[in-house]
Amino acid sequence: MYFASLSLVLISAQLLTTINAAHILGIFAFPGKGPYSFVEPLLKELALRGHHVTSITNYPQSKPVKNFRDIVIEKNQHLFDEFKNFSIETIGSNHFETLGTFYNKAYEMSHNVFTNEAVRKLRQTESFDLIIMDVLFTESFYGFGEDFGAPMVAISPWGTMTSIDELVGNTTPLSYIPNMIMLRHYNQNMNFWRRSLNVAVYILERIHYYYTYMPMQRKIYEQHFPNASKSITEAQKNFSLVLLNDHFVLTTPRPYVPNMIEVAGMHIPSQVEPLAEDIKRMLHEAQQGVIYITVNSFLPQYIFQMVLNVLGNFDQLVLWNTQYHTLHTLQIPPNVHFISNVSHHSLLSLPNIHLLITHGEYLCIVESIHYGIPILSLPRFDGLNEDYVNNVKKIGNGISLSWDQMRERILSKTLNDLLATDRYRREAKLKSKQFRDQQNPPLERAIYWIEYVLRFQGAHHLRNLGQNLTIWEFYNLDVFLYLSLALIVFVWFSYMSLNLMLKLIMNAK
Ligand SMILES: *[C@@H]1O[C@H](CO)[C@@H](O)[C@H](O)[C@H]1NC(C)=O
Ligand SMILES: *[C@@H]1O[C@H](CO)[C@@H](O)[C@H](O)[C@H]1NC(C)=O
Ligand SMILES: *[C@@H]1O[C@H](CO)[C@@H](O)[C@H](O)[C@H]1NC(C)=O
Ligand SMILES: *[C@@H]1O[C@H](CO)[C@@H](O)[C@H](O)[C@H]1NC(C)=O
Ligand SMILES: *[C@@H]1O[C@H](CO)[C@@H](O)[C@H](O)[C@H]1NC(C)=O
Repeated sequence: MYFASLSLVLISAQLLTTINAAHILGIFAFPGKGPYSFVEPLLKELALRGHHVTSITNYPQSKPVKNFRDIVIEKNQHLFDEFKNFSIETIGSNHFETLGTFYNKAYEMSHNVFTNEAVRKLRQTESFDLIIMDVLFTESFYGFGEDFGAPMVAISPWGTMTSIDELVGNTTPLSYIPNMIMLRHYNQNMNFWRRSLNVAVYILERIHYYYTYMPMQRKIYEQHFPNASKSITEAQKNFSLVLLNDHFVLTTPRPYVPNMIEVAGMHIPSQVEPLAEDIKRMLHEAQQGVIYITVNSFLPQYIFQMVLNVLGNFDQLVLWNTQYHTLHTLQIPPNVHFISNVSHHSLLSLPNIHLLITHGEYLCIVESIHYGIPILSLPRFDGLNEDYVNNVKKIGNGISLSWDQMRERILSKTLNDLLATDRYRREAKLKSKQFRDQQNPPLERAIYWIEYVLRFQGAHHLRNLGQNLTIWEFYNLDVFLYLSLALIVFVWFSYMSLNLMLKLIMNAK
């Protein structure tokens, strides 16, 4: 009996996987590691569940994964170095000029994908049931939906923004959500002038997007989808689902349409790999707790030494994950150990990690919240601050230092605040509880919605009517204009008739 039911379970499990197995194409050509680290666990989980995943990427798997195939765009790997010097902060300080350069890179990146031999072959010989893609600077790829006749799922490695809202007819209230460009400066309630500025920036951004940026993307789209029945702006409205790396504990509560889902934390594994024996022993002996540093970029020697000196004054064991530890001239305090090739999540999930020191990368901030660890964000030597919107400060679970604060006294005081007082630890634990208290884990949610789209062939019933409206109709601007004009005409007419009546009465006297 037991065996009979067991084999029945096994058979039906097998049936389920075979019936549902879909061919899924992932397009993640953007040459940045962060965005791909966010989506990679999702693609691998889909493969694990029996779907056949093809991933266009710059970061191929080191070991073969079942049901998983990488297509590497070699030409885009060279783009990476030039992208390194761009960040949203540079965009913020010199917005339109930097964007122009960025757009050219985006053009090149898309072009490299379309002209790649493996991608060409894919288009000629294969079919897919679903396409998952990164939707920052990749508008020309929106033609793949019609090309393969497959529903499209968008992934944003950050939250939403206007161009992503427009994919599914979502709105971002301009009255209380500052535009991306202004996020850094406005984290409080916006007064009348700030709201005015926010609306003005929105209008400028839209004009720029549709009149400067989109024509370039349209050009690639028309070049590589010559047989498309619809224009790029129509293909843009053909998304079934948007998955966002956002959560209200991270940013702010805000409205979403039903096919826009927050899945921040989906890259965090539910089970971590065991640590190597020597690391385990070291951690076991660290009675005073551990400070974990993942600063893996070049630091000038005097800064490196200053940070080491300050850390040497603390009782905690310091584990520094970096490849730049071969500087023999550094004096390394006895409590500091350099490590490499240690699983990030295995360390973070340990109970005696007292502090995480990073450059404030968005994924690290999400991890500090998930694991409930206070965070210190150090600036990068090239002057780019990863924590460009002061997320750490807004969330309250840590401190973010700028370049001019990188002095021994300030660093020492900051570390003392973070380690010796209870404030940040309490905040980190609270945020962690709020973040992890979810109906289902974010990865499971992402899979559920993707399979939902597969089950209903694009789930057209999920799309809202606003998706097809023009911006005038969407915000009822035409109606407001009409009503205002009607009111003006009415007031003017009343005034004139009153005047005429008075005159007649006067004349009659
Ligand atoms: C990026 O910036 C650094 C320092 O500002 C500079 O040395 C490097 O040449 C730049 N790289 C590119 C590809 O522009
Ligand atoms: C829209 O997506 C569907 C799949 O959901 C696809 O069959 C169709 O060709 C696409 N149309 C356009 C214009 O992109
Ligand atoms: C477009 O259609 C023509 C005629 O049907 C065909 O020869 C051509 O290969 C198609 N081009 C693409 C890129 O699919
Ligand atoms: C890194 O660690 C893993 C498992 O802990 C091991 O299999 C691998 O060989 C290590 N790689 C290097 C370069 O040390
Ligand atoms: C939006 O327009 C497309 C094509 O014009 C149409 O197929 C679709 O049904 C419309 N969507 C809604 C929600 O009305």
